[in-house]
Amino acid sequence: MAAPSTDTAGTPAVAYVRAARRLAGELRLPGDKSISHRALMLALLADGESTVTGAGAGADVRSTAGIVAALGADIEPAPGAAGNLDYRVRSDGAQGLRAPAGALDCGNSGTSLRLFAGILAGLPMQAVLDGDASLRARPMARVIEPLRAMGATVVGARGDGVPPLIVVGRAPLRAIEWSTPVPSAQVKSAILLAGLRADGTTTVRESVATRDHTERMLRARSVEVRSSVAADGGRVIEIEGGTAVQARDEQVPGDPSAAAFWLVAGAIHPDADLVLGGVGVNPSRRAVIDLLRRMGATIDETPVEVEPVDRGARDTRSASRSLEGVGEPVADLRVRSSSLEAIELDAADTAGAIDEIPILSLAATQAKGRTVIRSAGELRHKESDRIAGIVEGLRALGARIEAIGDDLHIEGPTPLRGGLVDSRGDHRLALTFAIAGLIADGRTTIAGADSVGVSYPSFFADLERIRS
Ligand code: S3P
Repeated sequence: MAAPSTDTAGTPAVAYVRAARRLAGELRLPGDKSISHRALMLALLADGESTVTGAGAGADVRSTAGIVAALGADIEPAPGAAGNLDYRVRSDGAQGLRAPAGALDCGNSGTSLRLFAGILAGLPMQAVLDGDASLRARPMARVIEPLRAMGATVVGARGDGVPPLIVVGRAPLRAIEWSTPVPSAQVKSAILLAGLRADGTTTVRESVATRDHTERMLRARSVEVRSSVAADGGRVIEIEGGTAVQARDEQVPGDPSAAAFWLVAGAIHPDADLVLGGVGVNPSRRAVIDLLRRMGATIDETPVEVEPVDRGARDTRSASRSLEGVGEPVADLRVRSSSLEAIELDAADTAGAIDEIPILSLAATQAKGRTVIRSAGELRHKESDRIAGIVEGLRALGARIEAIGDDLHIEGPTPLRGGLVDSRGDHRLALTFAIAGLIADGRTTIAGADSVGVSYPSFFADLERIRS
């Protein structure tokens, strides 16, 4: 698989951002990272040819693409619109995969590592999943335990706590019923992907509903996945094992987690009018939009009718659209300068916006009153300890923010001033601090700015286009 020439990496390790006079214009976003990963993985599992249009070009999705190739699929990326990549994947399906020659490198991507662990658990081969220093520090027992219960052999480092993971698959796996102790779409998805290769019905219970792309995308590929609301308000998801995943084409919507940076930029800047085209607004991902609106942000939303990718007789999209929860809703968003008020996020709000908490914390520094973000402990286990990183970075810019246990408390509005901030090699922190620089007095210096390449390689180019 050759790297296409639209590789937009190349952001310097240190970036400087000055306050903008005005933010205006229209942006297209990177393809949704969660959907891009899953589309490539499901293309690997399907016998035949699949295309993935508008996949994110960031390093995380490239890690997944590399592993899809290492497991035996023929995968070709081509430059797509808005800096994204269009992939064509040909695979012989789950039965035809080959044992990889070396360790599978997931880079910085927890989604790649945990979801591939689920896929490999049901394949009759041995593989090693590894990643960078950040990924090697992230908790893996949450995925090792259910996969072992299903009959796979999975061994991690440091007492099974962290990667690398050795996975020795078994076919078929045992169907299990599993309750996820922490809300995690990655753990749920790993179990569902293993459940594809299990004998019978695998059930996952989650106390807080997490993003449901895996369920939707499996349904769209003819796998039976049922989802219902539990008595405690959580979700029960069931998958029938033994069904083949069908090849299909996926049009990846714009990433709402990337859109969140511009939504906050537009809301907190005094002279802003930004339009974000084609953003995914799946109910399990749109919490950041609704939370910002609760804070008083002026965000207009215009639904976009998604055109099926033309596959002639092989297109199943129009038929599958009538099924509940298939396909991804998309909208154009417009955000304008807003006057924000503090709000309180409860545990479900926080889980629903888990990737957007860093940028919502920045919004809170500009909101009137004390914003409290409760039960944010999971942020300590992301690409960095994001609680420590947010508090340290925003304080360096003059914000009034503290962590009390697992809660974040932020007082506003507080004028920010430029300073030196460390992204800790974490893309979402680098992106948050760059947006802060657009309203901070003077110059903001972001160390580790090149980490934006993990999810949003064209970020600094986009920033230059819409600022004046
Ligand atoms: C993701 C799930 C979330 C999220 C991550 C992407 C996914 O992680 O933070 O960025 O694609 O399933 P957890 O499952 O660890 O909460």
